[in-house]
Amino acid sequence: MTPLNQTFHLGPEADYLVIGSGVAGLRAAIELSQHGRVLIITKGSRRQSNSVYAQGGVAVALSEEDDVNLHFTDTIKAGHQLGREDAARALVEEGPMRIQELIAWGTQFDKVDGKFVFAKEGAHSRDRVLRAQGDATGNEMIRVLLEQAKKQGHIQWFDHHFIMDLLVLDGQCCGVRVVNEATGHLQVLPAKAVILTTGGAGQVYARTTNPPNATGDGFAMAYRAGAILEDMEFVQFHPTSLFHQSSPPFLLSETMRGEGGLLRNRKGELFMPKYHPSAELAPRDIVARAIWSEMAASRSRHVYLDVTHLGSAYIKKRFPTIYQTCLRVDIDITEEWIPVSPSAHYFMGGIKANIDGETSLPGLLAAGEAACNGVHGANRLASNSLLEGLVFGVRAAHSAAQWTPTIKGKDRKHGLANLEFGPKRTLEDAEKLRNSLRRLMWDQVGLVRTGDSLTKALAKISAWEPQVQGFLHTRPDLEVKNMMQVARCITEAALWREHSLGAHYRADFPGCKGSAWKIHSQIQCPESERPTPTPQLKIV
Ligand code: SIN
Repeated sequence: MTPLNQTFHLGPEADYLVIGSGVAGLRAAIELSQHGRVLIITKGSRRQSNSVYAQGGVAVALSEEDDVNLHFTDTIKAGHQLGREDAARALVEEGPMRIQELIAWGTQFDKVDGKFVFAKEGAHSRDRVLRAQGDATGNEMIRVLLEQAKKQGHIQWFDHHFIMDLLVLDGQCCGVRVVNEATGHLQVLPAKAVILTTGGAGQVYARTTNPPNATGDGFAMAYRAGAILEDMEFVQFHPTSLFHQSSPPFLLSETMRGEGGLLRNRKGELFMPKYHPSAELAPRDIVARAIWSEMAASRSRHVYLDVTHLGSAYIKKRFPTIYQTCLRVDIDITEEWIPVSPSAHYFMGGIKANIDGETSLPGLLAAGEAACNGVHGANRLASNSLLEGLVFGVRAAHSAAQWTPTIKGKDRKHGLANLEFGPKRTLEDAEKLRNSLRRLMWDQVGLVRTGDSLTKALAKISAWEPQVQGFLHTRPDLEVKNMMQVARCITEAALWREHSLGAHYRADFPGCKGSAWKIHSQIQCPESERPTPTPQLKIV
């Protein structure tokens, strides 16, 4: 290997880098392996993606009573009409084919009497949600996609590697620089195209259903490289996550309400009918805010989800993971009401992309939660995200395969070999800063925001930002830096949108008048502030 600036080494050659190993990343990599050498890079292990934790299922118009037009209408309606119709069309129309393909590869969706079962979830006009092993759908899909990826000849893996930055030459994304989490070894990896499938950033909030690795790395690295981020103010808060002192806010699937689970306030009263005619099955943003109001009115930190009437045997079979997880903290959900409160769950916004995954930075593609192609509008329809990963993972792969960079391989390597990076530094207390940021975002930029709370949050973020400047080079430090950048983007976008729409609720602007709301927020790092060097390439 050739040494670069004493510290960086040129890594293995690949045509395409796929960053992330969730549904979107794996599906993109499988498709791309027909077109060239693919390197999948993932922090931690390949089985630690957000997708693995998806319980409820995957929405797809495949039942006899269903129709793609109904799925389209429900998607646009749940998104409060802000969604882009071309994206929603692609999702619902290509979704069935992508699911059939997954079934052909061996995915075991649950069946009764030999027929797939379709579950009900909020804001769906039909029972439409396929599931696997009751409440372990993401896990099953990832199992099959990993197996399928293994069968492809051209896929290599870099597990436990953290991307420090995207590399840009002559305005084109040409690769990444990466640190090996175990050894600290630094490498530059050139490629024709980079596909970001890094998921969301739930960890930016103190309460989240996301695993610890959901730190918004893709959003932050794309932003630093100059790509446009869109609609970052739209963060979906899942209404029901476990509220327990000794447990992280574990997700309690919406399908529990789909199966008849009821929400009760501190006094034991059913309250959802007061907020929406669909009661427990109202869209997620409405249920989450209703819970928030009930908690505020009763000065309680949670409400209750009651499934006891569904019967012990049924609960254990239908929700085995949830049943076991709650039992570990001494809650028997077959007999007790479960304390629940909302938690940050999913980003509707992200790296601005078209339906083919192309971002505003040539050579950079994005798919899945990392991307914002407008499919979800202001609020995602339940269980649309696994389908999104499949459909737009394939689309982004096709675009990457068609992309012809003007920079040739030899020149790309030469250009990247000449990039210079500043001296290394380390954060004083990454853990403390991370926790303070998460608390700030939860308190001031959460489910209910005001101009005042957002301004306060921005002031704090500005005060903390100098701490994350410079050439940080370890995973914990880099995650905090990424979270800080994502937090700023969310807060600025939320301050800018002076009305309430879908998941973005401003208590100082509770309504949404006229047509001024039908706009998308966009945020881009000014060229002068981009830390990634972007030299003009000298062809030698
Ligand atoms: C759930 O099962 O409630 C989560 C699935 C989703 O977010 O769509």
